[in-house]
Amino acid sequence: MKEKFYITTAIYYANAKLHIGHVYEIVMADAIARYKKMRGFDVKFLTGMDEHGQKIEKTALSLGISPQAHVDEMAEHTSSLFKNALNIDYDIFIRTTDEMHKTAVQKIFKALYDKGELYKSSYKGLYCMPCESFYKEKQLKNGNCPECNRGVEPIDEEAYFFKMSAYQDRLMKHIEDNPEFIQPESRKKEMINNFLKPGLEDVCVSRTSFKWGVPVEFDQGHVVYVWVDALSNYITALGYTSDNEADYKKYWPADIQLVGKDIVRFHTIIWPAILMALDEPLPKQVYGHGFLIIDGLKMSKSRGNVIDPNVLVEKYGTDAIRYFLLREMPYNGQDANFTNEALIGRINADLANDLGNLLSRTVGMIDKYFGGKLPENQASNEFDAQIIKLAEEVARKVEEKMDAYHISDALVEAWVLIRRSNKYIDETMPWVLAKDTEKQAELAGVMYTLAEVLRIIATLIAPFMPNTKNAIAEQLMIDAKILEEWENSKKFGVLAKEIEIKKGAIVFPRIEIEKEVKVDEKEAKKDQKKPKQEEKTEDLITIDDFAKVKLKVGEVLECEKVEGSDKLLKSQIKVGERVHQIVSGIANFYSPEEMVGKKVVVVTNLKPAKLRGVISEGMILAASDADGNLNLVTIDGSLENGAEVR
Ligand code: ME8
Ligand code: MG
Repeated sequence: MKEKFYITTAIYYANAKLHIGHVYEIVMADAIARYKKMRGFDVKFLTGMDEHGQKIEKTALSLGISPQAHVDEMAEHTSSLFKNALNIDYDIFIRTTDEMHKTAVQKIFKALYDKGELYKSSYKGLYCMPCESFYKEKQLKNGNCPECNRGVEPIDEEAYFFKMSAYQDRLMKHIEDNPEFIQPESRKKEMINNFLKPGLEDVCVSRTSFKWGVPVEFDQGHVVYVWVDALSNYITALGYTSDNEADYKKYWPADIQLVGKDIVRFHTIIWPAILMALDEPLPKQVYGHGFLIIDGLKMSKSRGNVIDPNVLVEKYGTDAIRYFLLREMPYNGQDANFTNEALIGRINADLANDLGNLLSRTVGMIDKYFGGKLPENQASNEFDAQIIKLAEEVARKVEEKMDAYHISDALVEAWVLIRRSNKYIDETMPWVLAKDTEKQAELAGVMYTLAEVLRIIATLIAPFMPNTKNAIAEQLMIDAKILEEWENSKKFGVLAKEIEIKKGAIVFPRIEIEKEVKVDEKEAKKDQKKPKQEEKTEDLITIDDFAKVKLKVGEVLECEKVEGSDKLLKSQIKVGERVHQIVSGIANFYSPEEMVGKKVVVVTNLKPAKLRGVISEGMILAASDADGNLNLVTIDGSLENGAEVR
């Protein structure tokens, strides 16, 4: 029997349309779900809409429509965004206005009441409507909501309370006994230090001052607090308390629940306490990812920096957006930055240049040299062994990263093989072989190796970029199902020797931003001049000024020359969980080969800039003298990459 795998995202507020930050989570969940399906798991992937609460009632009122009409529209918009624009292959799209969910929430509330977990009292305090959360005066930040920084309002009403304070010790013990329960580590520490250690208070779990919620059946006038209603979706969607609990019994507890950093508290404190009160098992893991921010700022309507995912997908395509999101967000919970520059940089470098080129060069050559069909007579060459070995290694590493949910790192690994395969073309020089009638078998062998490596690559990237996998299948004229067989990614020689291809469209056309680049470079130069003038005055800086510069140890994974420049090297540098692409003017002093493996000091919080059209995400420190000699600042001890330099 197949092993089950249950994965959930948060359910989305049906208050307004989603922005690009919101969709990171659903894309991450989709990549994991697709991967697990490929690995043979019986996967259940849940997402949906959170449709109750005071905020939604108020928004509908201001639009002059009923709350139900408003959430219907939002649910339609969101599910279409997921299915059509983002190619999300979810299994269940729950809506908290579904009858089945509402009935189950009523039963859950009643069960908690019957078990003596709830008591009636009155709530007097502050409320943040956009976050739908209660606060005490002392928790506010500058008088505002500590989470979203917006205004709070006083409320004073009759309410039921859940005895959460009673769960303090059990929760703490659970977190200690199950190191995987809250991930990444940074979130776990946050929860322990900011919430558990200071002590838990009972939470208000019903409201009486508005109507848009699940009514408490045994006490008219109360509606269930929207967070209790919303959190329950993870089990009501499986039929919990219904007359068919088969899916609940099979899939719960969840293997992983994905949530953003702002709602980790609800998922690792309130949610498990409710489950404990119900005597139900806790999810195996809650993973709290970072936020996608825009030019370093939070997305918000008032700032006017909200980006519509539909617009981006229309402009750049589904897989490019999926790739960008997954590649940029680090596992460790830190935020990722969105800029048009970074997006276009990734598309041009990783997708057009690395992956797209590999495909079009390969099918282009099979077409040109063999009329689209490889002959059976093939010979191997001296470079084959290396690349075949690397392919196996990469497949294993991608698997290892995916099993640990290190999505961005899995992509970094896959790209090692993609870049190496392009290099294989340069090494084997098919255009030279093509001119020699004696070398036709060798030429065919090179083409076969490339086709095989492409098959492996297509399989490895299938969870992230399903459309691209299909495009590769089409051009290699193989059944896309073959590219979904994960185990085959670890084998070489799966395709028949006499492969036939069909040249197709370019998968990722380069985005021409040459004009923009020139402007950027000018600006960058302007910026470079300023500090030099200031230097002369030798102004003293404070320790705070210095602390603004984040210096870390980085390890060079890969390095190559920047095309069209004799001075620039482009390095992929691993700094803790992240890989930074950094362009530096050191080609006259270091060769790409000698850079690989070096431990250097990297400025990690430098605003990304473009050099010769290539994105650079930071800077490597180097010393230079008046004669123009240059030495890199390196680490001579055993410190791991990611270590801070102070
Ligand atoms: O919080 N970057 O819904 P929501 C990355 N209904 N992720 C982001 C983000 C950003 N800029 N902004 C939001 C809710 N998110 C509740 C959840 S679950 C029982 C109820 C994430 O629509 C956010 O952290 O505001 C959350 O995980 C998800 O998007 C939905 O946010
Ligand atoms: Mg939110």
